[in-house]
Amino acid sequence: MDVVIAGAILADVGKLLEYEIGPDGKSRQSERGEALRHPFTGVALAMECGVPDAVCHIIAAHAAEGDLVKRTTEAFIVHHADFMAFLPFKNPKNVKVK
Ligand SMILES: [Fe+2]
Repeated sequence: MDVVIAGAILADVGKLLEYEIGPDGKSRQSERGEALRHPFTGVALAMECGVPDAVCHIIAAHAAEGDLVKRTTEAFIVHHADFMAFLPFKNPKNVKVK
């Protein structure tokens, strides 16, 4: 459970490097973010801080990039929770509202 919670909290930590504030004051993708999406930069940040490999695996595998690796059970939980929260906002017209 600790690994799942830590992974869920840190899954998007790489977005701190993937995005920046532009001259217009709005968020935009950084040059680094164009080269490396947040799962990659997130793992780099986490490893530099001594985060355990099991949590780094969740960061690496939480997004589409993780479809190419064998996810742990904990990574599957975070991956599916992430997409359950993300997909309705990506295409809201496919969500049935009561
Ligand atoms: Fe993400």
